[in-house]
Amino acid sequence: MTQITVELGEHSYPILVEPGALERVATHLQGYANNRRLFILTDENVGRHLLPKLQTAFAGSGIDLVVKSMPAGESSKSWRQLELVTDWLLAQGVERSDTLVALGGGVIGDLTGFTAAIVKRGCRFVQIPTSLLAQVDSSVGGKTAINSSAGKNLIGSFNQPLFVLIDPLVLNSLPDRELRAGYAEVIKYGLISDADFFTWCEANGSDVLNRDPEALSKAIIHSVRAKALIVGEDEKELSGRRALLNLGHTFGHALEAETGFSDKLVHGEAVAAGMALAFGYSVRRGHCDPAEAERVRSHLKSVNLPHDLASASVNASGQRLVDHMMHDKKMSGGTLPFLLANGIGQSFLAKDVELEDVAKFLDESD
Ligand code: GLY
Repeated sequence: MTQITVELGEHSYPILVEPGALERVATHLQGYANNRRLFILTDENVGRHLLPKLQTAFAGSGIDLVVKSMPAGESSKSWRQLELVTDWLLAQGVERSDTLVALGGGVIGDLTGFTAAIVKRGCRFVQIPTSLLAQVDSSVGGKTAINSSAGKNLIGSFNQPLFVLIDPLVLNSLPDRELRAGYAEVIKYGLISDADFFTWCEANGSDVLNRDPEALSKAIIHSVRAKALIVGEDEKELSGRRALLNLGHTFGHALEAETGFSDKLVHGEAVAAGMALAFGYSVRRGHCDPAEAERVRSHLKSVNLPHDLASASVNASGQRLVDHMMHDKKMSGGTLPFLLANGIGQSFLAKDVELEDVAKFLDESD
């Protein structure tokens, strides 16, 4: 069992990484129950696998689980679903001291966190992330949101959970593709500021993806530690420190938009290709040695993640992709900050990038 704290003064909270934690979830969560009940928000796929385990774990605890199960997938991060969930909670008589438990991946975590921010002007929430991507990234740090017709994650708030409970064993039932997509966010921590961790990923990435328990736990613990540190330094992405976590996301966002935010290219896959493009573009601008960018591409390729436009199944002009980038919520005063790199483990925020130049780079990329 490893406990990591996100240090945010009075909003500090623990993240527990414990193989088999779900079996002991009643012990872990009993202190969060109000009126001897917990509100569990999940999706239909995760619920089918994990709700029976949760119910068994709580049997005899004297705590009632009040469950809301939603359709799986990005479409649940919507105004409509938010309305359905909040109406349901109010009909159940939710109180401010009640705790919502997000049992699921990033979609459920984001929707639950935002719901908890606004119901009765704020109630409590706990994250039990069930995908690798949610375990190493989205469940930590309090970014919560729904999508709007204008774009992804445009309506939301910073709302920190009270507790994050990570059970690496739940990943045993995660589809391979989702595990691989989550692994892109693991690699990201190496590329941002930890070259040794990237070297570890090169040597152990296939073990992580083969669900070797030791490799998987190490990848999760290392990633969560890195994220907790960054969030503790820059909770609301004001100083530029937290913005480093967006490495690959600006390029990736354009690829996701081009593929309609669909199953053609899921978020982690888009981030993988986006990181390779960010390194490629860093080479073009003279920041980064081409051999470093090649190492990034080659590791992504070796684990079967998209590593360029073709492998991301995107065939669009540079200008079209840049047009997608202009809907990014980080656009400010007509410019878009980009995460670039001086090398592996040496990412930085560049505020002088000309979108015209990015379009040319994308046209020249294969
Ligand atoms: N996923 C990026 C962040 O939490 O800041």
